[in-house]
Amino acid sequence: MGLHYLRRTIELTANYFDGRKVGCFGNAGYRKTTDLSKLCACIEDLTGSGIIRPQSTVFTDLGCGDGRVNFLMSYFVRLSIGLEIDSEILSEYGPRKNELISLLRSEGAVLPPENIFLIQGDSLDDRTFDEVRSQAGVDFVDVDLFYTYITLHDVFAEKIAERGRPGVYYLVYGFSRILPGYESFELVNRDVGAQEIAALFRKK
Ligand SMILES: C[S@@+](CC[C@H](N)C(=O)[O-])C[C@H]1O[C@@H](n2cnc3c(N)ncnc32)[C@H](O)[C@@H]1O
Repeated sequence: MGLHYLRRTIELTANYFDGRKVGCFGNAGYRKTTDLSKLCACIEDLTGSGIIRPQSTVFTDLGCGDGRVNFLMSYFVRLSIGLEIDSEILSEYGPRKNELISLLRSEGAVLPPENIFLIQGDSLDDRTFDEVRSQAGVDFVDVDLFYTYITLHDVFAEKIAERGRPGVYYLVYGFSRILPGYESFELVNRDVGAQEIAALFRKK
């Protein structure tokens, strides 16, 4: 399914969530929300370069908030998994998903595939991945692309270095120009989608 076919759907989805941005401190770490219109350009770049493949890519947002990145990403990947430590924040997903689906339906847009798995838990706790395995049928080593919006980016990098498969990608949103570096990772693209907001790393 190409980006062209989805253009209106993606535009409606990005506008819906970008009209509901958050920028505050939650109970469990800094909370801000990805700008989905910028992420669209990143996705286009990643699909164009074959890093995201609709039939096979397993995507995981390690701190998914209200699941907005998962909703958008679901159109471009095989599995769109999100982990969120704060149940209150995660509970925003259901009502928003329902409202957005009604909007997409009324506009004759494409409804998201049923490949979104949002799980409450700590991404650093192995038990959370037990839950991922039982719900989505995949393990940490099956993930092809991890994502975080700054949150715990360095700690998550250590976890991926320890448990991820060699070659797994790590998309870090929220940095431009001065980028972090992670042991065991190479920098693949310092400005994904030319948005000056996201960098792509790959485990060696
Ligand atoms: C900056 S927000 C980003 C939300 C979403 N990814 C987005 O871009 O819109 C980070 C989220 O990570 C969650 N978080 C923090 N530490 C976490 C952990 N150890 N495991 C899972 N989620 C965590 C926070 O509660 C917060 O909702």
